[in-house]
Amino acid sequence: MQKILLCGYMGSGKTTVAQILAQKTKLQGVDLDAVIEKNGGLSISDIFNEKGEIFFRKLESETLLSILESDEAIVLALGGGTPAYGNNHLQLKNEGVVSFYLKGSIETLYQRLVGENATRPLVAGKTAEEIKELIAKQLFERNYYYHQATHTIAIDQKSPETIADEIMQLLA
Ligand code: S3P
Repeated sequence: MQKILLCGYMGSGKTTVAQILAQKTKLQGVDLDAVIEKNGGLSISDIFNEKGEIFFRKLESETLLSILESDEAIVLALGGGTPAYGNNHLQLKNEGVVSFYLKGSIETLYQRLVGENATRPLVAGKTAEEIKELIAKQLFERNYYYHQATHTIAIDQKSPETIADEIMQLLA
């Protein structure tokens, strides 16, 4: 049963591209953050604020494994940090999985994140300069894990539709 996994930094378009791909492939589209929020009845921000990041990472790994246990073919958008914690990156190469790293430049990701920092706990309350520094630092730290994906798709200056079309061609 094939599972399509999308990984990449915050703002790389994982959720939107997963929704388009789900329509195109007629598979169920699943968003890891949304499942975590639904299961716990708390937003990702509230989980970070009330229980801390370590608690969130544990929940994230457990939720990922339980989603992947099912036999169903799905398109799954991971959270930006998912591959970099626990052994989650191994899932990108697992049997029955084809995975895509949506790779954006620091500038592209910065432009997308700087305007909407209230909804994302890791960027909330940070200045524009701090956000840029965080992106550079985390892209460096997470590079190895993101590159465990089967394919890397450059996303700069591309619409979610274009990215989904590129993925469809690679799946054909
Ligand atoms: C995170 C990314 C977020 C969410 C959480 C932590 C990260 O997901 O899982 O805020 O560590 O990069 P999105 O990439 O969907 O925003």
